[in-house]
Amino acid sequence: MARKKIALIGAGNIGGSMAHLCLLKGLGDVVLFDVIEGLPQGKALDLSHAGPVEGFDGNVIGTNKYEDIEGADVCIVTAGIARKPGMSRDDLVGTNAKIISSVAENIKKHAPNSFVIVVTNPLDAMVTLTHRVTGFSRNRVVGQSGILDSSRYRSFIAKELNVSVNSVAAMVLGGHGDDMVPVRSTCLVGGVPVEKLISPQRLAEIEKRVRNAGGEVVALLKTGSAYFSPASAAIRMTEAYFFDKKEILPCAALLEGEYGVNGYYFCVPVIIGAGGVEKVIDINLNAADKKAFDESLNHVKDIVQAMNRILGVS
Ligand code: LAC
Repeated sequence: MARKKIALIGAGNIGGSMAHLCLLKGLGDVVLFDVIEGLPQGKALDLSHAGPVEGFDGNVIGTNKYEDIEGADVCIVTAGIARKPGMSRDDLVGTNAKIISSVAENIKKHAPNSFVIVVTNPLDAMVTLTHRVTGFSRNRVVGQSGILDSSRYRSFIAKELNVSVNSVAAMVLGGHGDDMVPVRSTCLVGGVPVEKLISPQRLAEIEKRVRNAGGEVVALLKTGSAYFSPASAAIRMTEAYFFDKKEILPCAALLEGEYGVNGYYFCVPVIIGAGGVEKVIDINLNAADKKAFDESLNHVKDIVQAMNRILGVS
């Protein structure tokens, strides 16, 4: 059986980290694309030199030509600018909408059968645009947001209780902005509801930190945003697809009536398997979570409208 082909559109920090992960995990051959000349080629050459040390056989090429993504099984999109300290993800919409329009056109043309994972911010708007421009069905276009946000929640809870991250389950849903919704009732530590282990006041502080965690990283790095953890999250989705895991993962999926929402990408639990996004799981949120979910949705609607105005789409 031929190796899988993974096209990484954007060879910045997340693209480079994802390429490394794909090769280390033996997921397939990697095409690292970027419009900047030399950047993907340099990273690909460097990565190929890690092969003999790590023992991986996957090929990696760097390219500035979209033709090279031909036949990709998965395309992961990180192209665009990242935020700098003081910026919100929404501040990126004008620049990144134009970049993503072109990326999506090229995916449609050169990798028409691929499963597409969007990582570029503002995430909910950029995945909406990718879906619109490619015209792919909703099971083949998904946004990475909730795995990262949930992982931050799990990580902070594990540190708080000094337990393994593997013992902490939790989901953060909604838009990938500062009003994302850490759903406390989904947070279980060794199967025990977190509220039995941590006070409500302390949980509220941790959840606030979760919502601002992306910005906390940006403020420290000063030159860009998080990359190791977003890369891990997108590759987790790729593995669920390649290995038909039917894993329940919080991802930005197009809602068509689920949660009472129609026509918007929003992070909810979905099943990812060989069919892509095989199912959206509609959970009954409690009143407080539903209110937070709806507020976050209003914010996503505003960004999508702003994006449409910029693109001249009504
Ligand atoms: C973050 C960016 C990648 O949450 O959206 O860190």
